Amino acid sequence: MKALILSGGHGTRLRPLTYSQQKQLIPVANKPVLFYAIEDVIEAGIYEIGIIVGPNADQVKRTVLGREWDAEIEFIYQGDPRGLAHAILVARDFLGDDDFVMYLGDNILREGIVEHLNHFKRGDFDATILLQEVPNPQQFGVAELSEDGKTIRRLVEKPKVPPSNLALVGIYFFKSIIHEAVKNIKPSWRNELEITDAIQWLIDHGYRVGWTKVTGWWKDTGKPEDILDANRLILDDIKADIRVRTNARIHGRVVIEEGTVIDEDTVIKGPVVIGKNVRIIDSYIGPYTSIGDNVVIENTEIEDSIVLEGSEIRNAGRIVESLIGRGVKIINGTSHPFGRKLVIGDNSRLIL
Ligand code: G1P
Repeated sequence: MKALILSGGHGTRLRPLTYSQQKQLIPVANKPVLFYAIEDVIEAGIYEIGIIVGPNADQVKRTVLGREWDAEIEFIYQGDPRGLAHAILVARDFLGDDDFVMYLGDNILREGIVEHLNHFKRGDFDATILLQEVPNPQQFGVAELSEDGKTIRRLVEKPKVPPSNLALVGIYFFKSIIHEAVKNIKPSWRNELEITDAIQWLIDHGYRVGWTKVTGWWKDTGKPEDILDANRLILDDIKADIRVRTNARIHGRVVIEEGTVIDEDTVIKGPVVIGKNVRIIDSYIGPYTSIGDNVVIENTEIEDSIVLEGSEIRNAGRIVESLIGRGVKIINGTSHPFGRKLVIGDNSRLIL
């Protein structure tokens, strides 16, 4: 059994963050989204992992190899991303004829994949998919089940009129027949080789496609709101771990890493994660907030937000539901003319 984890693509819905950073590397609770996928795969006992990389290949490699993993990791360059099924074509040599799990590196699944993998193996399926009911099926691949719910009748990618509210989670198990399927499908209206079409090919040709339902939470972190949602969900499960001495008032479950200094006028209400070498002065860090390494925060209130490494926020009033990139400065100027002085990258969003 092998794993193919996808970490390519342009991440246009996450601009401007994705101008400088691959979307699967954006940290949620101070850990790159991609790492959650790698951990799930290793937890399921899969030790041969291929990671599909695209425009920011070096950045992905550096980040992944910056940590030790209990697995052999190979990077596979996709070139022009032409869809999820295209990633399987590109990984043909790595995959050989082994069974594999394909895991979209921007998906986070709380329950991991162990149970889902067991179902795939036990049922001797040619493929299994994971489904979850969602309120907005138009934005996903959607499954239509048979009347008794036992088999999948049809899969449609981003349907205008969804046949059900069962969305395809970005995690799929395959036997090697999938290589036949991806060779035989045509690009969709959005000019991509869709994995849903490849699985439909299996169904149409009489292969056995099973499904399991996701019972815990699942997030596709494609948009800023999803990243903040995922951050809340992950922080809901953290355990307190404070590695520094501080006289700040700390309530609830809070993680603070080494080298961080927090003064006594600061109040922190968990769940909160604060990275290494952070300085926090006379501020309030509210629930559901993740602060990256080397951040400075002074005289500011932050709640329900993510601040990435190296940013500086001083006298900035109250910040809520925000996703703040790396090396950002938010300061309250004291020189004339007063007013908001902005140097903002393309596709930034400010709600003042
Ligand atoms: C992809 C798949 C879609 C699936 C989704 C899950 O969509 O094409 O079927 O429901 O991932 O994250 P994308 O996020 O690439 O638009």
